Amino acid sequence: MIDRLRSIDAIVASRRGEHGALLSILEDVQRTSDHNYLKGEELAHVARSLGLPLSQVYSVATFYAFFNLKPQGEHVITVCRGTACHTRGSKPLLDTVLSHLGVTLSDDGSATTEDYRFTVKTVACFGQCALAPVIAIDEVIHSKVREDQLLELVRSLQQGGEE
Ligand code: FES
Repeated sequence: MIDRLRSIDAIVASRRGEHGALLSILEDVQRTSDHNYLKGEELAHVARSLGLPLSQVYSVATFYAFFNLKPQGEHVITVCRGTACHTRGSKPLLDTVLSHLGVTLSDDGSATTEDYRFTVKTVACFGQCALAPVIAIDEVIHSKVREDQLLELVRSLQQGGEE
């Protein structure tokens, strides 16, 4: 942990005085973490280092969707649960991928496999409703997705292939 705090000190030092430093620091801290997330003690360390209230650091970390407060899988599957996608079958897609990976969504709407290979999460709308149902795998958008296509993509990742 001491090494990790030292590396966070280096990140803070490299960004100090920059416009929007807190955002950039949190991005760097998350990017260099083991499972792409911000730990509570790391947020506290950033707050102390910058002389900011912890509440301010938490409010930034929770406001932006790209910050994670829980460990993330190596691959992230995001299923749209907006109205257009719902009416075109996004719930069965979500159920299928959860069942295939043997996980259930927690209260925050995400689920990560025990081996940290996959995280499944939902989003309110990708803004591509005409292409519903829409999912993203590792930020690559897939449109008009069918269950068999989704399973094929996931199986390919499980076998170590690229999507
Ligand atoms: S509702 Fe799914 S992209 Fe808009």
